[in-house]
Amino acid sequence: MKIALGSDHAGYQLKEALKGYLDTLGHETLDLGTHSTESCDYPDFGFAVARAVIDGRAERGVVVCGTGMGIAMAANRILGARAGKPSDLFETRLMREHNDANVIAFGARVTAQPLAEAMLDLFLATPFAGGRHARRTQKLDAPPAPGGDPR
Ligand code: RB5
Repeated sequence: MKIALGSDHAGYQLKEALKGYLDTLGHETLDLGTHSTESCDYPDFGFAVARAVIDGRAERGVVVCGTGMGIAMAANRILGARAGKPSDLFETRLMREHNDANVIAFGARVTAQPLAEAMLDLFLATPFAGGRHARRTQKLDAPPAPGGDPR
């Protein structure tokens, strides 16, 4: 599978470790930065990874910042991106089965590398369940206009 990766400075080391892990598994990686621990802004990299997934340059995305929160928020600003930041394997499985997540976010300051690798394995291996869940994920791409009725 072709996988885009991105992080800010806080996520750089975990992003590098996960890139190496994906390489050992035989995946093709697209590293969109950052490329050092020099301070930078997580939105730039969340946007870049989500854009790569939506444009078809990658099938899935991996984003990493200090908590995983900001970079997930950034990825989700790109229409069509569905980024989740799971805390455990259960949430990882469900964000694939129910939400068809195409981007996974990690917090390098809160998740140890072995757990991140196990979650990444599950994220890549778990299929979307479809059915009633497809109706719901389709709605994510058609948010109500300002003042519109969200129901
Ligand atoms: C950087 O210090 C930190 O704010 C960032 O990596 C991230 O945790 C934001 O959500």
